[in-house]
Amino acid sequence: MRTNWRPTPGFAFGGDYNPEQWPRDVWAEDIRLMQEAKVNLVTVGVFSWGLLEVADGVWDFTWLDDILGMLHEGGIAVDLATPTASPPMWLYDKHPEILPVNREGLRSHPGARLQWCPSSAIWRTYATRAAAMLGQRYATHPAVRMWHVSNELGQANRQCFCPESAAAFQRWLAARYGTIEAVNEAWGTAFWGHHYTGFAQIGAPLNAESALNPALVLDFARFSSDALLDHFRAEKRELLDAGVTVPITTNLMVGVAPSVADYASWVDDLDLIANDHYTIAADPRRERDLAFAADRCRGLAAGQPWFLMEHSTGAVNWQVRNRAKAPGELTRNSLAHVARGAEGALFFQWRASRAGSEQWHSAMVPHAGRDTRIWREVVDLGGILDRIGEVAGSVVPTGQVVVIVDDVAGWAWEPPSKPLNDYPLHRIARRWRDAWNDLGVTCDVVPTTADLTAHRIIVVPGLYLVDDATATAITDAAHNGATVVITHLSGIVNEVDTVRLGGYPGAFRNLLGVRAEEFLPLQHHEQVTLDNGYTATDWAESLIIENAEVVARYTGAPLEGRPAITRRAVGSGTAWYVSTDLSEGSIHLLAQHLAGASSASADLPAVPGVEAVRRVRDGQSWLFLLNHTDQDQRVPAAGVDLVSGRTVSGSIELAAGGVAVVREG
Ligand code: GAL
Repeated sequence: MRTNWRPTPGFAFGGDYNPEQWPRDVWAEDIRLMQEAKVNLVTVGVFSWGLLEVADGVWDFTWLDDILGMLHEGGIAVDLATPTASPPMWLYDKHPEILPVNREGLRSHPGARLQWCPSSAIWRTYATRAAAMLGQRYATHPAVRMWHVSNELGQANRQCFCPESAAAFQRWLAARYGTIEAVNEAWGTAFWGHHYTGFAQIGAPLNAESALNPALVLDFARFSSDALLDHFRAEKRELLDAGVTVPITTNLMVGVAPSVADYASWVDDLDLIANDHYTIAADPRRERDLAFAADRCRGLAAGQPWFLMEHSTGAVNWQVRNRAKAPGELTRNSLAHVARGAEGALFFQWRASRAGSEQWHSAMVPHAGRDTRIWREVVDLGGILDRIGEVAGSVVPTGQVVVIVDDVAGWAWEPPSKPLNDYPLHRIARRWRDAWNDLGVTCDVVPTTADLTAHRIIVVPGLYLVDDATATAITDAAHNGATVVITHLSGIVNEVDTVRLGGYPGAFRNLLGVRAEEFLPLQHHEQVTLDNGYTATDWAESLIIENAEVVARYTGAPLEGRPAITRRAVGSGTAWYVSTDLSEGSIHLLAQHLAGASSASADLPAVPGVEAVRRVRDGQSWLFLLNHTDQDQRVPAAGVDLVSGRTVSGSIELAAGGVAVVREG
């Protein structure tokens, strides 16, 4: 990753710009409107391959030359995309074998996007040639300040099950395990006698009428992530060979649920972390989902600034009921990302399309044009980002608390035949993050590869799969003084998805001094109550104490009086175990207790419904305050609100839905 690099002097503001969808007379208006809104960066060319390479090897760069020139003249920087997210029709005519095959064994058809198999050699040849052509033409173009490889790799082609992918998977397995015996051992293929005698017998995990070996499914997910990363690397290499010196990245899709790829393993190849995030209309607490995703991005970026590559000004078009954002929501959403470390706010897309499958997706310039609420809010946001420009380049200070989230652990939990098969594992992490947020304690959300030495409290929420190195790092952190909180469904299987024997949670049993002999998953209507008043749903365990204190016990059958929450002093730290799925309120109470016990104090104002985040640089700090409620709120703060220009002494009155960015001091 590159640190201290920004495509624009202050915060970046803009979005995906698809001029190829519009006649040229609209382009001039686009530039004028961009200037009016203070747009300073646009992503160009994402889906335009078919309009650049008009026939095999025949390129027409005229329109792209022209628009890049116009943007440059207009003072707008460009994030130039390689166009490989949408191959041209002539390529499908020539090579239909690049189309991906789904888990039902059906090959997809041209007409959408990302319709390519990441392991296809033919595809790779054409895609890298396209990247090279773009790179050679625009490597030194003065408008181009960063490169955007393809688009949301894996979004529609996460896993391809074609014979070429299966063969690549076999090679991947051979490289990872060495021998077929090692694969048999790792996957436990004695089960159902699925013993393999050669790599050639291992196919892609196509759908079957009963459950597949989860270790096979997991390794195929890892392989598929690597195949996509390999594709990214191949395109990036072409750009570097062509002389590109500005950062090269691709837009990830980091959210709450496990990602399509193991992004933690992609980080070293990305010059900066860039994310696309869309709120979900049906989620009444969308802003928490956003905050979680943004914190995860900061965690992937190891605390450094990252980039919000896409979000929406209003409704998307791919949910069941596509909700228009409420007045002010786009500004709150943008500033929430910025507060959590994003170096600006970009949208999909600049001008709402008239035609095509995204004609009902919101944009910065709506169908109704300039005299619209959305346009006015876009212009306002451009002004705000300009006024808070001094904050760019600062960071969110390392939190006293860290929550660990791992995509691969999420994948391991996904295949069926689990104790609970409708239980979203990442919900535990989100609840813990929310609790710290509500207490006003800065909390980081990090992958398992993160450095854990700087945090007072380490939460390990539903980390179902844990390798030995991670388990050791967590254990060491406790010995060295941290308060470690392990929740149910953590440390259950090892990295090849084999249960760690001897009592759950196998990876942390010794650290915790407890051993669960049996899981007791609950039905939807069931709730448990602990003897300290905490409540929980979904999950309970029969726990045996070996060397720990009991903090709270289950009440009622069948676990009456049995331990539910435990604590053990280890080295200079403490290890807690929470064996049940605590309600949000109970997690809040427990977090409050843990904060007190570990001297982790609130470093942010904690006003219900007001999101508060601080960014810092060189002794200066800026407090972001976002009022997500429909009431005016008074929040402690002192300094100057860069949004309104007002001096703030002691506290600030935030209007319902309002925002402030206070330069403190
Ligand atoms: C993203 C994608 C964009 C656009 C957007 C719509 O996933 O990268 O191209 O389709 O969704 O919400």
